[in-house]
Amino acid sequence: MSTEDLKELQHHFAFGENWADYARSIDALRLQEAVKGLLKLAEAADWQGRSVLDLGCGSGLHSLAALQLGVAAVHAIDIDPKSVATTRALLSEHQAEGPWRCETASVFALPAACQQAYDIVYSWGVLHHTGAMMEALRLAAQGVKPGGLFIFALYRKTRLCALWRLEKRWYSQASARAQARARRLYMGLAGWRLALRGDRLERFKEHYQSSRGMNFEHDVHDWLGGYPYESISPPQVEALMQKLGFEQVRRFVRPGSWGWGGSGCDEYVYRRRRSAA
Ligand SMILES: C[S@@+](CC[C@H](N)C(=O)[O-])C[C@H]1O[C@@H](n2cnc3c(N)ncnc32)[C@H](O)[C@@H]1O
Repeated sequence: MSTEDLKELQHHFAFGENWADYARSIDALRLQEAVKGLLKLAEAADWQGRSVLDLGCGSGLHSLAALQLGVAAVHAIDIDPKSVATTRALLSEHQAEGPWRCETASVFALPAACQQAYDIVYSWGVLHHTGAMMEALRLAAQGVKPGGLFIFALYRKTRLCALWRLEKRWYSQASARAQARARRLYMGLAGWRLALRGDRLERFKEHYQSSRGMNFEHDVHDWLGGYPYESISPPQVEALMQKLGFEQVRRFVRPGSWGWGGSGCDEYVYRRRRSAA
C-alpha cells in the first residue's frame, strides 16, 4: 500500500469506535487525571488564556482538560468523524457555551488559517498513526505561533517495531471475534510478565487510570490495532525539531528496548523559536 493510501481514513484502525466506547467511562476522576497529564507537560500558566489545537482529539478528554485549565480557545480536530462526534458530545455536555470548536480534518489538509495560529499544538499519540509521521510532524509544527509550544507523544523505537506493525495491520482488519481472542492472549501474556516481576494484572489495571485518565482495556485494543504505525527515537525527534526551528523545553523518554509488550509513548515539549521562519 502506498503512503498516500495509508493517509486515508479507510486504511486506518477504527480509532473513533474505540473512543466512542471509552468516552462512556469518562468521569470526574478520569478528567482529573487528564488535567494532571497536561500539567506534567506544561505548567498551569502555560495553559491559562492560550489557544490550543488538539490535533487527533480522540475522545476529547484532553480538550476538556485544557478547558478546565482555563485556556482561551480549543480547536479539536480528528480525521475520524466518530472521534469528532464523541469529542463534540463530551464538550457540549460539560461546557455547552465554552470556547471550543470541533471538526473533522486531517493533519495533511489543515486549513491555511491554522498556520502559526496556536499558542499550543497538542498531539498526543497521533502522528505515528497518520501513515506519514515525519510529514505529519512537520505540518503539525506549522500550527505553532512563534514562542508557542508543540506538545506531542510518539511511539518509541524498539527492536520489535516491525513485528508490531504486521500485527497491527492484521488486527485492524480482523473480525471482532479474532480481535477479542488476540486481546485475551495479549492480556494473558501481560499478566504472566507482571507475575514474573511480582506484580498482578488486576492491581496494574487499577493503577492504569492514573495514566492520563485512560482505561487499560481500551488502550489494549488501541495498541493492538493502532494502524498505521510508526515509531521514532529521541535523537531523530531532536534532529527534526532543531531543523524546524524549535528548542526542547522538556521530554519524558525511556530507553529503546526489545518492546515485547509494545513500545510505549515518549512525550516531548518543544518551543518555537521567535526568530524561526
Ligand atoms: C491513539 S488516538 C489518540 C487520541 C488522543 N490524542 C489521546 O491522547 O487520547 C489517535 C487519534 O489520531 C487520529 N488520527 C489519525 N490520523 C490522523 C490524521 N491524519 N489527522 C488527524 N487525526 C488523525 C485518530 O483518528 C485517533 O483518534
